[in-house]
Amino acid sequence: MPEFAPDVRAEALRAEYGYDIIAGESLPLLIAAAVAAPRARILEIGTSVGYSALCLAIATGAQVDTIEKDAGKLAVARRLWRDCGVSDRICAHLGDAEDVAPRLAAARKYDFVFIDAAKSKYGSYLDAIYDFIDTGAVIVADDVNYLGLVAGDGYPPHKHRTIVTKMREFVRAITDPTRFECKLFDVGDGVAVCKKI
Ligand SMILES: C[S@@+](CC[C@H](N)C(=O)[O-])C[C@H]1O[C@@H](n2cnc3c(N)ncnc32)[C@H](O)[C@@H]1O
Repeated sequence: MPEFAPDVRAEALRAEYGYDIIAGESLPLLIAAAVAAPRARILEIGTSVGYSALCLAIATGAQVDTIEKDAGKLAVARRLWRDCGVSDRICAHLGDAEDVAPRLAAARKYDFVFIDAAKSKYGSYLDAIYDFIDTGAVIVADDVNYLGLVAGDGYPPHKHRTIVTKMREFVRAITDPTRFECKLFDVGDGVAVCKKI
């Protein structure tokens, strides 16, 4: 875990919000990718209670825009950012990312995008921002091997079928070598790090 990570706060948040926060083993990869990327402006899709946005803001010193559809979670996130002294560098946008992301991406140049919202919608989020980000922009997506069910072509259990089918489509899109340089990492529930080419 990088030194900057507010570990005590992370444990308290994890105890309360559980799966809604990036896995401890995936966070260093997200941060390493963000620090290595050109990083004037970051877009996060899926804020939850603000932990990954906090880590991105602290680690990179960049401006972070983050999108969340749940106002209650955003209220918790704003308190966290204020307590950690980064409120001025994180801007939260309440709404459905499918509507908000293309609006933001059309208005601002994002160098780094972290996708971590509805698992069945990753393809829609990608389509929504793709034309607005430049060559060289980096996209990190969390949980791309959702419950270990996405890799391979096994038939997923009924209750996970939609997410797994959609996530497989998303992984096909980001591993298309005419559009992205992409690496899939077997950490947490699977993390993809891709660069637009
Ligand atoms: C896994 S959590 C995000 C965790 C956060 N990135 C972190 O690691 O601290 C996913 C969040 O995406 C939000 N979400 C799901 N679908 C959404 C949508 N269509 N638009 C905006 N937010 C959405 C959920 O409410 C949830 O809080």
